[in-house]
Amino acid sequence: MTEPLFPQPTGTMGRPYRRYEAHEKVNGTATYASDVRLAGTAHAYLLASKIGRGRIEAFDLTAALAVPGVVDILTHETVGGQIRQTPSLYTGGYAADSVRPLGSADVAYWGQPVALVVADSYEAAREAAQKIDVAYAVAEAASSFDSGGAEHSELEQHALRVGDFDGAFAAAPFKIDAHYSTPVQHHNAMELFATQCVWDGDRLTVYEPGQYLNNIKYGLAEQLGIDPERIRVVNAYVGGAFGAKGFLTQRTALVALAARRVGRPVKLVATREQGFFLSAYRAETRHHVQLAADQEGRLLAHRHEGWELTSRADLLAFGGNGMTVRLYACPNIESRVNVARVDRSTPGFMRGPAEVPYAFALETALDELAYAAGLDPVELRRINDTDVEPVGGLPYTSRSLMQCFDAAGAAFGWPDRTAEPGSMRDGDWRVGWGCAAAFYPAYAASSSARVRLHADGRVHVASGGHELGQGMYTMMAQVAAERLGVPMDRVSVSLGDTDLPPAIVAGGSSSTTSVAPAIMAACDAIRRRLGLDEGSQGDVVAAMVASGTGMVEEYAETRAHGEAPDTMRRLHRGQAAPSGGIHLEDRVQFALGAQFVEVRIHARTREIRVPRAVGAFAAGRIINPRTAHGQLVGGMIWGISSALMEHTDIDPRNAGYINANLADYLLPVNADIGTVQAIMVPEVDDLVSPAGVKGVGEIGTVGTAAAISNAVHHAIGKRLRDLPLRIEHILEDI
Ligand code: MOS
Repeated sequence: MTEPLFPQPTGTMGRPYRRYEAHEKVNGTATYASDVRLAGTAHAYLLASKIGRGRIEAFDLTAALAVPGVVDILTHETVGGQIRQTPSLYTGGYAADSVRPLGSADVAYWGQPVALVVADSYEAAREAAQKIDVAYAVAEAASSFDSGGAEHSELEQHALRVGDFDGAFAAAPFKIDAHYSTPVQHHNAMELFATQCVWDGDRLTVYEPGQYLNNIKYGLAEQLGIDPERIRVVNAYVGGAFGAKGFLTQRTALVALAARRVGRPVKLVATREQGFFLSAYRAETRHHVQLAADQEGRLLAHRHEGWELTSRADLLAFGGNGMTVRLYACPNIESRVNVARVDRSTPGFMRGPAEVPYAFALETALDELAYAAGLDPVELRRINDTDVEPVGGLPYTSRSLMQCFDAAGAAFGWPDRTAEPGSMRDGDWRVGWGCAAAFYPAYAASSSARVRLHADGRVHVASGGHELGQGMYTMMAQVAAERLGVPMDRVSVSLGDTDLPPAIVAGGSSSTTSVAPAIMAACDAIRRRLGLDEGSQGDVVAAMVASGTGMVEEYAETRAHGEAPDTMRRLHRGQAAPSGGIHLEDRVQFALGAQFVEVRIHARTREIRVPRAVGAFAAGRIINPRTAHGQLVGGMIWGISSALMEHTDIDPRNAGYINANLADYLLPVNADIGTVQAIMVPEVDDLVSPAGVKGVGEIGTVGTAAAISNAVHHAIGKRLRDLPLRIEHILEDI
């Protein structure tokens, strides 16, 4: 018997409709950015810097220009200041980093675009790019924390202090004091970083996968110095994003400018290797965690110091400590974050950007504390469960952490575990069971949507959101169908276009939380227009026919809790960000979960396998259990990958990446992933969003690595505190 692909809906869940765009994706007619065919397209190829820092002294373009079919070569010399500066989004602008595209002879990081070749064919553009001779003056590049040139500082905004940590820690009977680290990792979404630009007179259309199309539109307008209303950004399908396609990268302005110069559409598809430098990535982190508990296991002291890494151009740190110190009751807290600036591209969002590394540190430390105090790791969490966060004393809008531990623990069979490390064996296999909490801030943003109802019962929903594969089309159709009481197959959806009413960035697990209320509000406005009560079950189509109207259309804006009055204007300009989590004055908002894994370590080969993982997650209302389940299971699989395999290796000589390809960057294949079960725990939360939703995009990948490292310890008695966990780390330990 095959297992169902998703759980049957219970409690607060909606119906598991099949994916709206499933047919298009399966038969290959879904048009991704690089699939759009434009007549007369010229092809572009990026030339990336082969030094980590320094200056371009000269280009020799002779051989490149002699390649048949070459049309144009953009360098900082030929572009000559035509692309203006837009600051990074971390400093109030739009860009993924503050380095101006082809802005000067200076090279800030390995892989920075230094030229763009345009030719009649991709092959000619690539050949010419490889024939460009660049003379560099090389300067020493600082690659990571311990490099001589790294600039270290503490970020005051992430410092926290409650009570007397030092006194409480010194006096406590049980304590843990340990260091943890997480590596550089890259998203590698299946779809590459593609951009096509076409001008029609002074109007520009951009086809580019994005998580925030209005960000691309307004940022590009600033870079090109043109009226934003002349730019349209379109993308109906994105082939995976995970944070890497959130914001304006260096390439877009270059392709737009090239298309204007050559008077033809220009298409760029960056290579897999270039994707390691062109956009955001998960930078390496370090952590020092100190925990202390009393005889009963109650936390007395919690200190977390984090070290994050960023570029010279952008001061960026995620400060996940603000969340980790608020998860459990504790009277004495101290926390700080330090940042090191080095000669790398600006890091950025990657699924659970702050949560994944900080959760690894805290949730591994808690397991260590459970052993020190002689407690079951689940019971340690129960003892320290709280409805009020301990820093500001603010209430959680809802909190189902222990319901998640209990649901996942029961499904996993946790009561059968024997606590002694090394005590569970199966032939040559050492078996370990571990668990950890998962958390992700529930973010919500102001959004807008337009809904049309036709007299024949057809409904059209439009909002400029983004389909990354997470199920945006399906969610939008389903919310309108349910709110208007029409069948799902009568609803069509438009998204992914800056001509539509703007939606928030498809990031921070906030799309459904934010856009569903706008769709609901537009549907309710239609009901009112037809003289029906908002909450009534009245038949909208019958009312339409009775009214004699051909079509009713309503546009609605909804403002998220705590948002400033100008939020809608910023949304239209692509500058709004989701809020919530720990950033509200009156409460904290989190989705929570529990991850349980079984690890098997072979006593002879030391290979580490994860034959099964069970997660349970409470994230408010689940609109579609099928698409939500896909996100959670996908997140857990990535968590396993992140814990055991993924590591981008840095070359300390030039701050470049050694394994910037999918042959050397380790990823799991199907045979590496066993049974992965995601349980959705029913939860009611009407505060985060009128849709009752908290979001499930990222939480599935948070905490998995700690559960695995805890299981490794249980299997063989060795604590591994540095990710990824690999064979070479346990050679001496069995
Ligand atoms: Mo997500 S890392 O906010 O795309």
